[in-house]
Amino acid sequence: MLEQATIDGVQMTIDRLPVALTVADPSQPDCPLVAVNGRFQEMTGYAPADVIGRNCRFLQDGCDGSDNEAAREAIRTALSRARGVEVVLRNRTRDGEFFDNFLIMHPVALSYGNTPAIVGSQFRITGRTTDSDVAEQANQVRETLSRLNFERNRLRDERYRSLARSSVELVRTWSYRRYGQGN
Ligand SMILES: Cc1cc2nc3c(=O)[nH]c(=O)nc-3n(C[C@H](O)[C@H](O)[C@H](O)COP(=O)(O)O)c2cc1C
Repeated sequence: MLEQATIDGVQMTIDRLPVALTVADPSQPDCPLVAVNGRFQEMTGYAPADVIGRNCRFLQDGCDGSDNEAAREAIRTALSRARGVEVVLRNRTRDGEFFDNFLIMHPVALSYGNTPAIVGSQFRITGRTTDSDVAEQANQVRETLSRLNFERNRLRDERYRSLARSSVELVRTWSYRRYGQGN
């Protein structure tokens, strides 16, 4: 289980960062959120007090399950292997508005000797989202992960290094399906 001092430290760091960020503790039952930042609150409408202690799947409530089946399977596999993953999920804000959420998740060692936490970053996709928006988001997340990560050797992971490229491909495929050609 992550120590409170570690959680407090990561909370201070993510509050200053310009992308939506969530941190979950996979050593606790059902991998609850332990920290979320202001950008996450802006995007989803959920304040930290609404969500700390809950699994982040509540954002899928009221969505068509078939939209998210493959992405959820990919997340479960990644979590069971302690690997990173990028997926697009259909989500809803607190006000009930549907949106497409490009989620990048990665295990991150926040302190020595602790089980890695899972850091997730959310990005809202619309029909106007361009490849360079996605690449920019992926680069910001990669920088965030390396800033948070105490175990530098994880940065050698090939998938992690090619984050921007794989992200653009993933989001392009999803956008084509949902928003049609020209996006
Ligand atoms: C740090 C972190 C952030 C997550 N963020 C989201 C999110 O923004 N939206 C979402 O639908 N699921 C999110 N998830 C995924 C769900 O919590 C859950 O892992 C996923 O739905 C697969 O598990 P399930 O099939 O048991 O629901 C996140 C998971 C983690 C660990």
